[in-house]
Amino acid sequence: MWTGSRLTQLLGIDVPIIQAPMILQAPLVPLAAAVSNAGGMGSLGCAEMSVSELEQRISEMRAATPNPFNLNFFLHQTPQYDPQLDGTARELVKPIYDAHNLTLPHDASSTDLETFSDEKLAVLMQERPGMVSFHFGCPAAHVLDALHSVGIITAATATTVREAVVLEKAGVMIVVAQGWEAGGHRGSFDTNFEDTGVGTLALVPQTVDAVNVPIIAAGGIGDGRAIAATRALGASGVWMGTAFLSCQEAPITALHRTAILSATDEDTHLSRAFSGRPCRARQTPYSQHMACGRSNLPDFPLMYNYSGPLKKLGIDSGNLDLQFLLYGQAAGLSREMTAAQLIAELKAETARVFADIAG
Ligand SMILES: Cc1cc2nc3c(=O)[nH]c(=O)nc-3n(C[C@H](O)[C@H](O)[C@H](O)COP(=O)(O)O)c2cc1C
Repeated sequence: MWTGSRLTQLLGIDVPIIQAPMILQAPLVPLAAAVSNAGGMGSLGCAEMSVSELEQRISEMRAATPNPFNLNFFLHQTPQYDPQLDGTARELVKPIYDAHNLTLPHDASSTDLETFSDEKLAVLMQERPGMVSFHFGCPAAHVLDALHSVGIITAATATTVREAVVLEKAGVMIVVAQGWEAGGHRGSFDTNFEDTGVGTLALVPQTVDAVNVPIIAAGGIGDGRAIAATRALGASGVWMGTAFLSCQEAPITALHRTAILSATDEDTHLSRAFSGRPCRARQTPYSQHMACGRSNLPDFPLMYNYSGPLKKLGIDSGNLDLQFLLYGQAAGLSREMTAAQLIAELKAETARVFADIAG
């Protein structure tokens, strides 16, 4: 059976389909729990949570599912405030702020978004979720040692073979190979935005050849055909974000859902305009306007100071062009149904593809 893999054994799940962690307007608990209950693994994006919110969401997950789930954190560096880059950003956003009668933020030199901390590590050691995953970096040795010492499986994102090798050498147990097609932020930590953009089809087999840990394929996986393809390339499972956004349990607005359900392959681009880091999202007049300064914007997450007020106005006024709708290049394959129905359909489709190929 295609569903059995090193990954399902390691994680104790039935189907090697991981719902990718996604930070949205509201908590992802109902979606993540539904995926874990359906035999896959649900994930929560915890990067923006305080310690007390993290504890609360873990207890909500435990109440909603007896099965393992994944908690995800960012490993970004504390940003260096650069007045020159800040000046560039202010100048670029000013006409857009003026057009919407918004006032530029007085101070854009810091944000509340902190990187992963020892306080959060202590919660994880106590709570022991099935898996903890990291984005934007390689976890420190003391973090991996601590998580492994209490039996937590670790994973981290790589966007190149080189990054995957770094993660494996550090002791990360699973590599999430994130291709260029992926919705949301690129997890890159050792490559630059303009020069490298390795697609899932090229990244997965070369990563499988380079490291011994299980590989989960991410980016542009929208249906059973892509699941079968990535399993054929050697991936032990898939990590799907965009495909789960249109599930009934996903906490998105009707407008957002409609945008995803009517998306095309050309909707998105990679932009630093939202956060300061390359992120795949729906193209908007704002992100297109900011593209000219894409290498010269403040570091992640300082750009949120400029994009945040526009996003808020977009949400309050129902204007999608001011919001950041993160989704990937395969959004056009999205369907609206429950997470359990989606997992059942994906399983059946993948099995059909393998049966067809076998003749
Ligand atoms: C709305 C959205 C939010 C995301 N937030 C996170 C996050 O908080 N942490 C993370 O590791 N990845 C995040 N990602 C990236 C996903 O983990 C994953 O790499 C991506 O969704 C895979 O590509 P796909 O969207 O084509 O399935 C996000 C993706 C989306 C679409």
